[in-house]
Amino acid sequence: MRTYTNVFDLGDLNAALAEAFEIKQDRYKYEALGKHKTCLLIFFNNSLRTRLSTQKAARNLGMDVIVLDVNQGAWKLETERGVIMDGDKSEHLLEAIPVMGSYCDIIGVRSFARFENREDDYTEKILNQFIQYSGRPVFSMEAATGHPLQAFADLITIEEYKKKERPKVVLTWAPHPRALPQAVPNSFADFMNEANVDFVITHPEGYELDPKFVRDAKVEYNQMKAFEGADFIYAKNWACPGVICPEDYGKVLSKDMGWTVDEAHMAVTDNAFFMHCLPVRRNMIVTDGVIEAPTSLVIPEAANREISATVVLKRMLQAL
Ligand code: CP
Repeated sequence: MRTYTNVFDLGDLNAALAEAFEIKQDRYKYEALGKHKTCLLIFFNNSLRTRLSTQKAARNLGMDVIVLDVNQGAWKLETERGVIMDGDKSEHLLEAIPVMGSYCDIIGVRSFARFENREDDYTEKILNQFIQYSGRPVFSMEAATGHPLQAFADLITIEEYKKKERPKVVLTWAPHPRALPQAVPNSFADFMNEANVDFVITHPEGYELDPKFVRDAKVEYNQMKAFEGADFIYAKNWACPGVICPEDYGKVLSKDMGWTVDEAHMAVTDNAFFMHCLPVRRNMIVTDGVIEAPTSLVIPEAANREISATVVLKRMLQAL
């Protein structure tokens, strides 16, 4: 595997899941693979789970790890070509990327949507420059439009907890005070569309996700109706994706607390499990009662981030 940016990079999902469960049985089984190999993790944005789980995964495989927080201690980077660099940015990404590539064997990049320009975000301008200019295999640790390590961990979790061959999985928008990217819901939709699940997306009007991620999913604007009979509720906020009104891209169109996942919503499900990628704003996205219930999977879901990252890094090491 040379890149990991979406579900299709994994190929056969059943084979990827089998590998995940093999690694879960013995996470050090492939520790010889990474000897004298270095994984560089580059963060343009904050992280708790991705930062820790991906380092743990690399170490499971015997790799050395370097973590760079671009905004803390590195030179401020210019990302636009053609700019006269007479401002506060001392280094251009086009030099920085191959330099970073020269110190490692595999690169992970976290670079969120900037909400300045939809096209830049949706063409993954930053991530793709790493893929093009680093000379190394590159994996996304959440880029502008996708978070495939999270979605793979989510799928592993659904496989572990499902009680039906084909469960009903609902992705629901929920309110948040700030504008958040669409990376998590996009990748979750990407994976659910390839998985053996009955997949429904629910959100207020104006929050339509990009059709390349929605694909064949059922979109239901009535949240309660969407929840009926569900086996898994996956909550997430996202800002306006700008599909219907491009000028609204990145805006917060609603903070309707009627969309908070509470006990009344969960009561119409089939005793559904609750999922969220974390970090989560309690009593905005989900009530204390729902996230603390025995049916909440947020902790095992986060733990599975180590497993999804180990599978991805293992495959990248095997392809070096
Ligand atoms: N879910 C997730 O990616 O968490 P972090 O932002 O803390 O890495």
